[in-house]
Order: sequence, then C-alpha cells, then structure tokens
Amino acid sequence: MIRLKNAAQIDRIRESCRMLSDLFTYLTPLVRPGVSTTELDDTAREFILARGGRPAFLGYEGYPASLCVSPNEVVIHGIPDGRRLVEGDIVGLDCGIDLDGYFSDAAITLPVGKISAEAERLLRVTRECLDRAIAAVKPGTRIHDVSRAVYGHAVANGYGVVRQYCGHGVGLSAHEDPQIPNYVSPGPNPRIVPGMVFALEPMINAGTGEVRVLDDDWTVVTLDRKLSAHYEHTVAVLPDGTVEVLTSWTYPA
Ligand code: MF3
Ligand code: CO
Repeated sequence: MIRLKNAAQIDRIRESCRMLSDLFTYLTPLVRPGVSTTELDDTAREFILARGGRPAFLGYEGYPASLCVSPNEVVIHGIPDGRRLVEGDIVGLDCGIDLDGYFSDAAITLPVGKISAEAERLLRVTRECLDRAIAAVKPGTRIHDVSRAVYGHAVANGYGVVRQYCGHGVGLSAHEDPQIPNYVSPGPNPRIVPGMVFALEPMINAGTGEVRVLDDDWTVVTLDRKLSAHYEHTVAVLPDGTVEVLTSWTYPA
C-alpha cells in the first residue's frame, strides 16, 4: 500500500530532510585520508541526537550503527569498524533520520583525497543516474520510467546495475511501498501521483551488477570486488504536482 502524504506531512518530512542535508554538509569535509569509519558514525549519531532526531538506521532490523559506511567494493550497508580510509578510496555514506516520526533517507559516495580517473567516472555517472531518476519523477509517469532512466544511463556507460536492492517510498517510516528498482523489473508499476515521497537510490558497479552479502549479514559487496557507487535523495511530489528534492546539499567540487 502506497501512503500518500498531505502538505502538512510533507512539511514535517522536509524538516527531517533538512537536518539530514545539514549532516551530509557537515560530514563531507571530514572524509579525508586517516579518518576512521567509526569516527564518521559517531559524528553522525551525535549530530542527529543533538538536534532532537533519532538515527533511523540504528537498531533497524538489528543494524548496529547510525551511518552506513561503504568503502570501494562495498555497495551498501557497510558497518563502521574502525578502519581508516586512505587516499584513493571512495566511500559511500548512507543515513536516515527519524524526526518525531517523519523519515528522511539519503546517501553520497565521496572521494578520499585524490582518486583515479576511473573512480571519478563511476561517481559522476552514478550521480547522473540519480539526476535522471529525479527528472523522471512527475505526476503521470510510472515507477518503471524511473527505473529505465537509471538503467539506461548506467548500461550506456558500461556499468553493472545492482538488482537485489531498490529505492523505496519513505516519509512515515524508513521503508514504504513502492519498491523502485534501478532496472526495469517485471514487478508493480504504479503511476506517480501527488503526495508520493520516494527515496531514489541507484547502486552502480564498475563491473558486474552481481553482489553478495558478507558473513556479518549486512555488508553488501560486488561479486567481482570492483568499485561500487551509491547516491540517494528523498524526493516529494507536492500536492500541486511539483517535484521537490527534499534532501539536497552542495556536492564537493
Ligand atoms: N538507505 C538504506 C535504505 O535505503 C537504509 C539502510 S538499512 C539499515 O534502504 F538497516 F542499514 F539501516
Ligand atoms: Co534508502
């Protein structure tokens, strides 16, 4: 069941998203050689709690942290473990906030110092996939139009698309219907209407789109251990039909 949100609810979700955007703005300059994944998680948790939010991922189905930290071949759901990032890494940061029952969800993949041209291209194309997903959201289009926009751009650039994990509805809980695959699936294809709020999140791999989950039951890695990138925004279709990206921040140059 897709839960449509009214203007008052979207206002509250927007507040949650603003806090999350501020968090990403705060975290971005901390990502540099030598920072540990645990330090980033601690910073995220303290930032959210200090502002009256609750880290939405902490304890979610047993997930042990507030921030998913996913270096290099880790696609999503990396668990902060004290590892120190080194020059040339890329790292995905994914976070959600529950602000008085209103949920936001966003992710970014950042370079650690100077990265290879190959890694730069993966980040750029994955971000473009998210931009294309957002552009495909409007009243009257369907979920598969969003999926096709992501998939087409990734494949045209020679990349693999992760199929096991999807975007999703969000706002009144962390994960709601509909699922939003990043490939055109045979599944449900609802029409997009005002009041829908989505977390759009392409996960794009340099090599194969196949993934596996490590023994910790969380960490998702590429099967071929090549690089993976992930960007995510929370996007609302307002009651008047305009589309607003509720999480947004300035990406590093
Ligand atoms: N952003 C991730 C997702 O959208 C959330 C991670 S689930 C958690 O779906 F358990 F790690 F919190
Ligand atoms: Co999400």
